[in-house]
Amino acid sequence: MNREEFRKQALAFDKKDSLAKFRDLFVSDDHVIYLDGNSLGKLPKATISHLQHVVKEEWGNRLIRSWNEKWIDLSKKNASKIAKIVGAKEDEIFVGDSTSLNLYKLSYAALKYNKSRNEILTDQLNFPTDLYILQGLIKEHFQNHKLLFIESKDQITTTKEEIISKISENTSLLTLSHVTYKSSFLYPMKEINEIAHKKGSLVLWDLSHAVGAVPIKLNDWNADLAVGCTYKYLNGGPGAPAFLYVNKKLQEKMENPVWSWFGHDRPFDFSNDFLPSKSIQKFGVGTPTILSLSAMEKGLEIMVDAGVSQLREKSKSLTEFMMSMIETWLIPLGFSVASPKNAENRGSHISIQHENAYAINCAMIEPSKDHKSIIPDFRPPNNIRLGIAPLYISFLDLYESVIRIAEIVENKEYLKFKNDKNLVP
Ligand SMILES: Cc1ncc(COP(=O)(O)O)c(C=O)c1O
Repeated sequence: MNREEFRKQALAFDKKDSLAKFRDLFVSDDHVIYLDGNSLGKLPKATISHLQHVVKEEWGNRLIRSWNEKWIDLSKKNASKIAKIVGAKEDEIFVGDSTSLNLYKLSYAALKYNKSRNEILTDQLNFPTDLYILQGLIKEHFQNHKLLFIESKDQITTTKEEIISKISENTSLLTLSHVTYKSSFLYPMKEINEIAHKKGSLVLWDLSHAVGAVPIKLNDWNADLAVGCTYKYLNGGPGAPAFLYVNKKLQEKMENPVWSWFGHDRPFDFSNDFLPSKSIQKFGVGTPTILSLSAMEKGLEIMVDAGVSQLREKSKSLTEFMMSMIETWLIPLGFSVASPKNAENRGSHISIQHENAYAINCAMIEPSKDHKSIIPDFRPPNNIRLGIAPLYISFLDLYESVIRIAEIVENKEYLKFKNDKNLVP
């Protein structure tokens, strides 16, 4: 297809898009195409007035009374929405703390519970913080444990066979990202849980790049443990509180290593002795961050309203359209695709590689009155990640983005920038 045919196709897809109305719920700039919603989601317009109300009325006027009037249950209120999004029960989700801290708490709990085994299994595609948490736990608390890696030959995917060959009766915990942060590889969670459970291992999923982008059915897929962030596809705001999930069947057996008053059974007794809450609240650490928990409310409402299954269908069509444009316009210019080719095996972002990736990334972002600024992100050594958040990305956005990337390379506009990330703050 030529340019005009792709453009017409994009417009036709947009016309048929039943989710198009959601785009208008987010703050946008007509001169920007935002392809980084897999890193920091957009600001819902409703969040602005909601936060103003929380700050002026709930904090400003009601002060401490707001704890009883609303704030004490805010984390649970958000948890009930996240439970819907990830296919869990309300009392299996705790909302608070960061993804890293939640990974620490649940990894510790799993390793302590399965302490007769001393192998932890993860893959080479996992996010650095996940690996650092495991390394720290081994150094400080589980010195006899070994961290083993499922290899990825292409640095894009792994295989079921590779997992089966590494998992054993000695595996205490298997921990993976449901969608991998660089390549967007989507693990078949149900199947992997079954493989691990047959060997007696627990599985901890990092849902950060999956939640709000692909359907997740934690209960139906018999998931043990999971964590995830809310500032990407859930549009909860920068540094928004994360969540964790512990299957009801395991809750009594999992212990939070960080004891604090908000994890206490009766925090307002102010007892000198710790008695863990009998509910999922035992995983909380300290006072809930009310402004951040408030900021995420509207993003969650929008996600529940749109429905992840519908969004997934749109996301697959968007990424397929993007792939066909990349094939036609970018592969001949020296790009390669570093994400699974089949939409069923990938999340909602696509990584493309080029020897001048960093400089091209800078040229894409550069503002100009002649063309839109396109905001992707860069991941070393040479990946440009194109995040395709189906709530607010259109087919026309993708058409324009690919044509602009081709133009940058054809006109050598990227030569204005050094191809070295370290030179830039
Ligand atoms: C897969 C994954 N896990 C964990 C994190 C980090 O979580 P946090 O910094 O919120 O603790 C990220 C951040 O982007 C991520 O992509």
